[in-house]
Amino acid sequence: MLFWKAERRASCCVWMKFLRLVVMLSSLCVLITGYTDSDRAHILMSRSPLIDGHNDLALRLRILHNNRLSQVDLHHVSKVATDISRLKAGHVQAQMFSVYVMCGAQEKDAVRLTLEQIDVVRRMCSEYKELELVTSTQELRGSEKKKTIACLISIEGGHSIDSSLPALRMFYQLGVRSMALTHTCNTPWAESSSKHYNVYQRENNSLTQFGRAVVDEMNRLGMIVDLSHSSWDTALAVLNQSMAPVIFSHSSSYSICKHCRNVPDLLLHALKKNGGLIMVNLHSGFISCNNAANISLVADHFDHIKTVIGPESIGIGGDFDGVDSFPLGLEDVSKYPALIQELLQRNWSEPELTGVLRMNFLRVFEEVEKVRDKLHSKLPSEVQIPHKEVQNPCRMVLRRPGPPGQPSIHSLHSSAQHGPPVTNSLEILTIVLLLSTLLGL
Ligand SMILES: *[C@@H]1O[C@H](CO)[C@@H](O)[C@H](O)[C@H]1NC(C)=O
Ligand SMILES: *[C@@H]1O[C@H](CO)[C@@H](O)[C@H](O)[C@H]1NC(C)=O
Ligand SMILES: *[C@@H]1O[C@H](CO)[C@@H](O)[C@H](O)[C@H]1NC(C)=O
Ligand SMILES: [Zn+2]
Repeated sequence: MLFWKAERRASCCVWMKFLRLVVMLSSLCVLITGYTDSDRAHILMSRSPLIDGHNDLALRLRILHNNRLSQVDLHHVSKVATDISRLKAGHVQAQMFSVYVMCGAQEKDAVRLTLEQIDVVRRMCSEYKELELVTSTQELRGSEKKKTIACLISIEGGHSIDSSLPALRMFYQLGVRSMALTHTCNTPWAESSSKHYNVYQRENNSLTQFGRAVVDEMNRLGMIVDLSHSSWDTALAVLNQSMAPVIFSHSSSYSICKHCRNVPDLLLHALKKNGGLIMVNLHSGFISCNNAANISLVADHFDHIKTVIGPESIGIGGDFDGVDSFPLGLEDVSKYPALIQELLQRNWSEPELTGVLRMNFLRVFEEVEKVRDKLHSKLPSEVQIPHKEVQNPCRMVLRRPGPPGQPSIHSLHSSAQHGPPVTNSLEILTIVLLLSTLLGL
């Protein structure tokens, strides 16, 4: 008995010594190399700074300041989660800025509002020397060398183009390089994951013929198709249609949190086949399905998606300033290193994390550009949405004069209810022209 106890004490002693040695060695390690896990995350991120898939600062600028940039100093902005000092602290080298306008503007002034959001992002990215608008992978890589923070412009919701491919093309000209096909409302041509707005409900028509033309035109232009906010049916149809890889710019895993904004494994497999990317959203509501989440639970989403489709299909799309609740320790754009630290502790390798931070997005964007180059001989699409599919009284359709006897000399489409002033002025013009011809003037 006594002997056994002594032996136990001895083995206990050995263990204690061993433990002490381990502790000593690891502190020695920190002493020699100076690295803690937090340091490793910062070092990794300064070598491979983040390209983040989604940020709604522009929406906050509208809500809080009516887009009056002169009222704020973007280095330090209160009541928001994003400003230049915190982007720098978080090693964010490139940010996709959403130019979101609310679904209530569909069929109203969505196009104007979107233009105004593009204007504010373009202004903010040219008026501050730390920021720079980029529109290609080449410029994106260049901005990293110059140590500027790259701004990418992304439309959030197909209602912004008012079912018009020419409008889509003009947005491209203004620098837009990505578009989510829907926000929380269906468009006349694609379906939302949310059933919040009861508009444009269709059966078996998650991507209409016009919707397919939108995807084709985005492929031709080199604009990234974003499936965050789209219904699963729409996402599947797009994955089948798109010649280029697509992204979910700010969505997490449905297996971990069963929220309609998240992506189920079935879609993840299709995404992998497409070569695309899911950029994990950090919002508590999508991480834990309630408003209390922690970094560990965020990492569970990363681990799960990695198990299903591999680390090369994963990115980060924080969604800061789009929503309010974020996990403790991930409250704003300066906190990304805490997430990388957690993933390092979960044995994600540095090459895997370099991919998650930026290389995976660069690969996808480059592939989108290659598809554009391959399609360079294709002419701009002239596909138009059938008028009956838009059911929009604000839509004016000018027609050229028809044969005599028909009331179509300058007629507007029958369902256009806002036409009379134009009709009247056109009529007056016609009469004046006729009279002047008759009088030989
Ligand atoms: C939609 O699809 C379902 C099942 O495939 C079918 O039963 C239904 O009739 C379809 N509806 C329309 C409007 O095509
Ligand atoms: C996939 O695309 C092919 C060819 O464009 C089409 O025939 C097929 O119906 C599509 N399938 C789905 C599920 O959209
Ligand atoms: C994170 O939250 C989950 C779910 O609430 C909980 O089970 C877990 O213990 C938490 N982890 C940490 C490290 O706090
Ligand atoms: Zn969103």
